[in-house]
Amino acid sequence: MGSEAVTYSVEDFVGFVNKTIQKVGTGPEALEAIGANLRRLVMEGGDLTAQGVPAENPGGLTGRWLHKEEGGDFQLSVTYFPPDEPTPVHSHYRWGVECVIHGEERFTVWERQDDADKPGRSHLNVVSDGKMTRGDVRAWYDPPKNVHRQWAQGDKPVCLALLMGGDGAREHIFDLDKGTFEDAVAR
Ligand SMILES: [Fe+2]
Repeated sequence: MGSEAVTYSVEDFVGFVNKTIQKVGTGPEALEAIGANLRRLVMEGGDLTAQGVPAENPGGLTGRWLHKEEGGDFQLSVTYFPPDEPTPVHSHYRWGVECVIHGEERFTVWERQDDADKPGRSHLNVVSDGKMTRGDVRAWYDPPKNVHRQWAQGDKPVCLALLMGGDGAREHIFDLDKGTFEDAVAR
C-alpha cells in the first residue's frame, strides 16, 4: 500500500454519509450512493489500514476504528475476517455497507421471513451471494434484509472497509439447517 496520496479522506466520506442520511435516509438508494463513495474512500483514501485507532476483530486480528462516536448514526472501521472461519449467519439491528480493501470474501445476504406461529423460527431467502475482491461493494439493509455471513476465501484474511448503522451490534444468530434463531451474545 505505502504512501498513496489521499484525494478523498475519511472526513470527506463521513461528511457525505451524514448528508445522505439527513437527506434521504438509509434505504437501498441511500446505501447505493454511500457504497459508491465507500469504494472511492478505499481507492483514494490512502492506506486505511494504518489510519484511525486499533480495534479488536474476530479471530484475534487487529483492525482499525476510522470513525466512531458515542450514540452516533453509524461507525466506520477497517475489519479483518480470518480464513477458514465463516462468521455465523447473523443479523444486525441496522444496515451496513462493506468494500474489500484486500483479500477475497464470499458474502451472502438473506431476508428473513419469521413464522408468526412459531417463535424462534425463521425462513431465510437469499438476497445476494457472491465473491468480492478489492473495490467490490455490497450492502445489507435494515430488517428484514439484515441477515448475512462473511467468509474469507483462500488462505489469507479478508480486509474490509465496513460501515455499520447504529452501534453495529449483532441481533440474532441463525441455524440454516434447523430454521431456528437465537439472540446474539453481546461482544
Ligand atoms: Fe455482520
